[in-house]
Amino acid sequence: MRMLLISLIPLTLLLNSVYGLKLLLVFATPSKSHYILGNALGKDLANFGHEVTVIGAYSESNPPKNYKQIVVTDLVKKREARERPHFMYKFENMSPILQMLIINNVIDMVVDTFFNSTEIQTFLQSQDEFDAVIVEQYLTDPLGVLAYHFKAPLILFSTIGSNRWINTLVGNPEPSSYIPDMLLGGTGEMTFNERAYNFLYSIVAQLNLHFIVYPKYRSYIAKYFPNIQNFDEILYNVSLVLLNSHESINHAVPHVPNIVDIGGFHVKPPKNLSGSLQDFMDDARDGVIYFSMGSNLKPSAMPKETKEIILKVLGSRKEKVLWKWDEDILENQPENVKISKWFPQQDILAHPNCKLFITHGGLLSTTETVSMGVPVLAFPIFADQKLNAGRAEALGFGKSLPFGSITEEKLSSALEELLSNPKYLKNAKLRSQLIHDRPMEPSKLADYWIKYVVKYKGAPHLRVAGAKLSFYQYWMLDVIFVYGGGFVISIYLLIKIRRSRKNSKANRQKKLQ
Ligand SMILES: *[C@@H]1O[C@H](CO)[C@@H](O)[C@H](O)[C@H]1NC(C)=O
Repeated sequence: MRMLLISLIPLTLLLNSVYGLKLLLVFATPSKSHYILGNALGKDLANFGHEVTVIGAYSESNPPKNYKQIVVTDLVKKREARERPHFMYKFENMSPILQMLIINNVIDMVVDTFFNSTEIQTFLQSQDEFDAVIVEQYLTDPLGVLAYHFKAPLILFSTIGSNRWINTLVGNPEPSSYIPDMLLGGTGEMTFNERAYNFLYSIVAQLNLHFIVYPKYRSYIAKYFPNIQNFDEILYNVSLVLLNSHESINHAVPHVPNIVDIGGFHVKPPKNLSGSLQDFMDDARDGVIYFSMGSNLKPSAMPKETKEIILKVLGSRKEKVLWKWDEDILENQPENVKISKWFPQQDILAHPNCKLFITHGGLLSTTETVSMGVPVLAFPIFADQKLNAGRAEALGFGKSLPFGSITEEKLSSALEELLSNPKYLKNAKLRSQLIHDRPMEPSKLADYWIKYVVKYKGAPHLRVAGAKLSFYQYWMLDVIFVYGGGFVISIYLLIKIRRSRKNSKANRQKKLQ
């Protein structure tokens, strides 16, 4: 018996390696928050026994085994060359159409840099094989060509949850009557005017996608893969979509069968804090306010007056404050405020003394705060931040304060309300319960569906027929054109006939007279 058991051990090890897949993950967006998610997914998949290769703009210093990295160093360099820290704050009051056009530039920055890099050129010459290719979708669809190159199913991952870019590719419905556009924000309950605005904006965004974004994609494919004739067949050939969203945070929206929500997968059980930070948190008898504007917005670049107001108000609070500050010195730093360029955010939020999170409302921060059940005060600036902040307010676990409108009174009364009214904590705890109450841990869910798609060779049975339609067919423009046109022509003819009859009648009568 013992012999049998011993001989079984190598067998199970062998089985393990047989069942592990070779996975390629491509997270090229040069933004820390996007990479944090890609890296977390890669590490989970490696820990589940897959052989993972991650192409990214950044790198992991402590990778698990089975985790290979390819770092495209030019991506961060390109981004830094273009960075305008003060300009980032200007997004707050910018028209969504202008924002959309600025975001379009990501294509040139990321896609061109990616394919032009020596790392990727070398990689494309390699003899590697993969069972599936997971590509982060953030106006980076041409990178999906790697799935075609390695003859493996294409899986898309979105760091921002359900959105038009993804919906268009898999035929997922997104009625503008109740799904507010990411850049417009709102709660989903819209007035007539809001619905009209959302609808008109969605038309502009569709036109942008089909007449600016996709042609740009095609031109980069033509530049780097001249042998590919029909890129659209690759673009729309999506087997599975992994979304970083969940109904506990995001709007409840329709999902076609090949969309899977894995929001919250990157949140891990809390670890102990480092010595001084642990003491700081433990000793805060009146609690701690944690303040971070995420990884893209530099707090030192915020308008001076706003910074002074924030310092004054925070300095007058009895709570202690941790402020993620990007410089070594914070001028006029109050006694109760501690700064650092980096904080272990999840572990701080998990500490029982953490009472409030002042955030820009990014989806990662929102997911982490919901997981830990900490109320928020949001200063949303761009992308989906207004949407997330509006949602926090509507769900009663936070307040949203437009950054440009901050005054001493508004900020202190918002803080007082959030820290003294127990409703916010209660609602945050409910959200936390909801994000954890699911049939399978989200990273295991991702693992399940990735294996599923590989097993069934891209699982075409999961796809809705709408994914194959061209955009004018999907929106019925051809039918509207034919029937609408027919209707207009018939009315026109009817009127003509009646007129000519009247005329001929009149003529006849004239003749008779
Ligand atoms: C689309 O994906 C499937 C599944 O991976 C694959 O078999 C097929 O060759 C792909 N088609 C194109 C045009 O890339």
